[in-house]
Amino acid sequence: MSEREGSQRDRAATTAGRLAAPREGAGTGGVPASLLEERAPAATYQGASAAAIQHHYDLGNDFYSLWLDPELVYSCALYAGPDDTLAAAQHRKHDYLITAAKAAGSDRVLDVGCGWGGLLRRLVHRHGVRHAVGLTLSQAQADFLARQPDERLDVRVQNWIEHQPQEPYDAIISIGAFEHFADFGLRRDGKVAAYREFFARCRDWLPPGGRLALQSIVKGNNTRLSKKTVRDLLFMADVIFPESETPWPSEALEASERLFDVVSVRNDPDHYARTCRQWRDTLLARREQAEALVGTQAVADYDRYLGGVADAFDRRHLGLMRIVFERPPA
Ligand SMILES: C[S@@+](CC[C@H](N)C(=O)[O-])C[C@H]1O[C@@H](n2cnc3c(N)ncnc32)[C@H](O)[C@@H]1O
Repeated sequence: MSEREGSQRDRAATTAGRLAAPREGAGTGGVPASLLEERAPAATYQGASAAAIQHHYDLGNDFYSLWLDPELVYSCALYAGPDDTLAAAQHRKHDYLITAAKAAGSDRVLDVGCGWGGLLRRLVHRHGVRHAVGLTLSQAQADFLARQPDERLDVRVQNWIEHQPQEPYDAIISIGAFEHFADFGLRRDGKVAAYREFFARCRDWLPPGGRLALQSIVKGNNTRLSKKTVRDLLFMADVIFPESETPWPSEALEASERLFDVVSVRNDPDHYARTCRQWRDTLLARREQAEALVGTQAVADYDRYLGGVADAFDRRHLGLMRIVFERPPA
C-alpha cells in the first residue's frame, strides 16, 4: 500500500470515529468544536496532490460546461443585486479583483489556479494586460485552454511550488485555489507554514508595492454544527475535495505577516451560497445530460455537495474571504 493510500485509509477510519464522537458541552451542537482540526498532522506541507486535484477537476470539461456560467468560472461570484445573472456576477468578481490587484494595463500578471481561464481572458480582453500566466494542476483545464490559443496567454500544468518565473509579475491573483494549499489534517502550525511558503513566493515575484488579490473559502465562526452538516462536510473532504483543508482567516493573515500589508478584506458567504444554488439548479435542470456524461452517482454526489456547501455558507460554518495584500516598500 502506498503512503497516500495508507493516509486515505487512516482518514476514512478517523471520519468514522468522528461521526461517533461523544457529545461535547453546550455551544458545540453536540459536535467537537475542533472537528476539522483534530486529526494528526501530515508529515509534509504539500497541499493537495496533482492526483487529488485531477480527481475533481478532470471529471470532464463537458460536465462542468453544463452547469457553470459560459466562461466556466468555478468560484464564488460577486452579486450587485437580486436580478443579477451569474455570468454578470462572475465578470464583476473578476473586475473587482483585477482592480484591487492594480493589474489592469500591466505587462505581466500571474493567476495561481487558473481553472478554465475565465480570469486570464478577462485580463487580456478587457483590461489590456499584455501577458497573463496561468497555473493549474488539472490537465483537462490545460487541454481546454490549449484549444483556444492566444499568444498573450501562457498556461502551465504546474504547482506554484515549482513555478520559477524568469521575470517578476506586476500583480498576482488567486481565486479558489488557496483551499488546496494545505493538506487535510494539517494542524494550525503546519497550515500557517504551508501558506507562508505561498506568500513568500508571491512576495518574491512582485516588486515593492505590487499586489496579490486572494479569494478563498474560509472557516466560519458558527461552530454549532448539526450532524447532517458534519456528515456533509466530511463527505466533501473525503469524496469531493480529497487532501484539501479549509483555512481560518487568521491562518492566512498570520502566514502573511512580515511579508505583506493587508489592503482590504471582505467576507461574502451569502454570495457563495447564491452561486452554489445557481450551479445546483442548473445541474439538476440538466440532470439527464449530466448523468449521461458522468453517471448517476457522480451527479448525486455533486447535488449533495453543492446543496450542503450552500447551507454551510448560509449558516456561517463557512465564509468567503476576498483579501488584497500589498508588498511593502523595500
Ligand atoms: C476551484 S478551481 C478555481 C479556478 C479558477 N480560479 C476559477 O475561479 O474559476 C481551483 C484551481 O486551483 C488549481 N490548483 C489547486 N492547487 C494548485 C497548486 N498547488 N498549484 C497550482 N494550481 C492549483 C486547480 O487546478 C484549479 O484550477
